[in-house]
Amino acid sequence: MRISVIGCGYLGAVHAACMAKLGHEVVGIDVDEKKISDLAAATAPFFEPGLDDLLREVQSTGRLSFSCDAAAAAGSRVHFICVGTPQRHGENAADLTFVDAAVEALLPHLSPGDVVVGKSTVPVGTASRLNRRIRDVQPEATLVWNPEFLREGHAVADTLHPDRLVYGNEDGLEDNPAVSVLDEVYASPISSGTPRLVTDHPTSELVKTAANSFLATKISFINAMAELCEAAGADVTQLADAIGLDDRIGRKFLNAGIGFGGGCLPKDIRAFMARAGELGADQALTFLREVDAINMRRRSKVVELTRELCDGSLLGKRITVLGAAFKPESDDVRDSPALSIAAQLQLQGAVVTVTDPKALRNAQRRFPELHYQQDAEVAMSGAEALLLLTEWKQYRDLDPYELSGSVATPKILDGRNILNPEKWRAAGWSYRGLGRP
Ligand code: UDX
Repeated sequence: MRISVIGCGYLGAVHAACMAKLGHEVVGIDVDEKKISDLAAATAPFFEPGLDDLLREVQSTGRLSFSCDAAAAAGSRVHFICVGTPQRHGENAADLTFVDAAVEALLPHLSPGDVVVGKSTVPVGTASRLNRRIRDVQPEATLVWNPEFLREGHAVADTLHPDRLVYGNEDGLEDNPAVSVLDEVYASPISSGTPRLVTDHPTSELVKTAANSFLATKISFINAMAELCEAAGADVTQLADAIGLDDRIGRKFLNAGIGFGGGCLPKDIRAFMARAGELGADQALTFLREVDAINMRRRSKVVELTRELCDGSLLGKRITVLGAAFKPESDDVRDSPALSIAAQLQLQGAVVTVTDPKALRNAQRRFPELHYQQDAEVAMSGAEALLLLTEWKQYRDLDPYELSGSVATPKILDGRNILNPEKWRAAGWSYRGLGRP
């Protein structure tokens, strides 16, 4: 099938490459010329494991091309909208400028029978509004909302083998003609057993925001337990292991630490609260305000614990922060708790060096005032305290015995609770975890 993908960021670039991998003929469209020229040269404009290889593989088949011109969408049967919906400046609500612009740019190129497929995370009500707009211009085209659940760092696998597919169409009916078009697009995952649900537009939009709100709530729940463990002298990692064995609860997303960040969970829960307010249902989501507050408190808690670790004063202390990305296997620093903590420490007088295997270029753009060092060994040498804030494998595998010779004082704060405290203490380190005695 001929497919266009509008918006070639984290979501769209991966989606375009994966659709070509599934056998479709795909054109990726974006207004950013640099992004398009990188992608056309089979280079991902961001770090995502496996994406460069996949781009090379599918481009050699001739099934994937890129363009800055929306007219390149003409002739495609399916048009995926994959642009960003960032938080509006100074507000909680989502900024729909890019979604609206993508749809407007597409309108002149739509033909009868075309299916526009929204993948971006949008406030409930957006799909029906856009569908009306599309119908005004091309009455025989239709819009399906097909939310994306991919995780950065696992984006290729999540797109090729999603755990579910949701199609929201205007009547919510299984026999809507757009359903069979999307079934053809996703024939491969469907044949390997991926469940597929057909809903109406608002339900499909809410599926995405509800899923992200649940995940954020789960993380903040365990971080609230970490606060209690801190007060009571208990260990939140053991608590998570024990409650996680109840399969109604489950162990996933119960890792207490510095909290969630990234381009999705923080802004999505805020946009959800804002939208609920507009719909007069704000009471239903007031708990998300607490979820957000618990999450942000973790960052201040880490600053306080670092001060304690540094004998009560941060002034002039040489602190090395391991990790800038919001999670490992990503170079994304959007709302990264690690970077936000690094910046707060620097503001309070510490001399902070940040290291990260992939995210330093993005980090530098975000916080140019921090000091960055790509080589982790050099970054750690002479440090008076280490803060492990993003759980990259290379930091998990650090050897406390080897490392104690190169730092100035063997002190470590494990912001992700991934190190073995006994081992580090036995090697002579002052070890602090979060929510652990
Ligand atoms: C998330 C959703 O998982 C995905 O389904 C959706 O499509 C987009 O948003 P992503 O932003 O890639 O994906 O990251 P995710 O793996 O969910 O992690 C989000 C944040 O939560 C990270 O900062 C991570 O470090 C943190 N986290 C995750 C925890 O602090 N504890 C956990 O137990 C799990």
